[in-house]
Amino acid sequence: MRALIITALVAVSLVTPAAFAAEAMPVAQQNELVGKYCAVCHTDASRNGGLSLEHFDAASAAPSLAAMMLSKLTSGVALETVRAAATDPDAAALLAQKMKRGAMGAAGLPIPDQATVDAFVSAFASQAAAGEWHASASNQVTTASIAGEAPSAENPGEASIYRLVISCNAATGQGDMQLAWAPMPQRGTLLAATDGKPPLRFEVDGTETMGNGNPVTSGPAAVHLYKAISIPLPAQTLAFSNLFPYQTVAFPFDAMAPSTRQAFAACLAD
Ligand code: HEC
Repeated sequence: MRALIITALVAVSLVTPAAFAAEAMPVAQQNELVGKYCAVCHTDASRNGGLSLEHFDAASAAPSLAAMMLSKLTSGVALETVRAAATDPDAAALLAQKMKRGAMGAAGLPIPDQATVDAFVSAFASQAAAGEWHASASNQVTTASIAGEAPSAENPGEASIYRLVISCNAATGQGDMQLAWAPMPQRGTLLAATDGKPPLRFEVDGTETMGNGNPVTSGPAAVHLYKAISIPLPAQTLAFSNLFPYQTVAFPFDAMAPSTRQAFAACLAD
């Protein structure tokens, strides 16, 4: 499936050079750009937005992470619209306009030429996915993540995106569940409903200082759910609402692989 999408983008962009580069960007170059333009703030030490990109490797990046990064790069263009930009002039125009406020400028460094930025975005667009779980295990730690898009009601082609990351260390029994959102930070009350039950409330508050020393501050873009209130592992869905007006995103726990679920049992109440 992923190979198919890459092929489609490449083939189409030869005809319409609009928003996409003809060549897939090598992984090493993607990593270099992330290191230079993103990891200056997203360090292990500062974890802006609850995210470290210090060890980012495009070769193994979770599709949900690629989707979040794409949302930040494009300041909130929906994944489908980013992909459509290769053939649809309206989508290409929206993308070009929104990219001006994207995260490429966050580090305050001169931005690479257009062809490089297009190839970078296109690489993320082919890696990104919403609605599917991605699990990995290293040493004793199992991690699973999934992204979910909430389309904007007012602005066609735009969307907010949420990402849930669950981890469990089988050796220590320590678990974590983090929800992050993009492209805008937000404070407020987040409601989390498990399997259609009455929701739990999380107050999302605080201020982020930039990991690269830039003197501006922002609101948060992530919250640790498991540390605040222990949510049992849902059987069917975990739905989030209320943080942004009229936005709901539901994650399908019934689609999680049984082996992943089993790995989490050591940390999260089932
Ligand atoms: C100057 C510091 C800074 C730079 C540079 C920066 N970010 Fe961020 N980023 C933040 C802060 C602060 C937040 C949380 C507040 C917000 O969302 O604006 C954040 C949030 C995020 C989030 C959402 C939270 C999450 O856990 O998913 C993503 C994704 C992200 N950034 C990706 C990027 C990418 C990709 C780049 C490089 C193109 C980048 N950032 C460059 C400071 C930075």
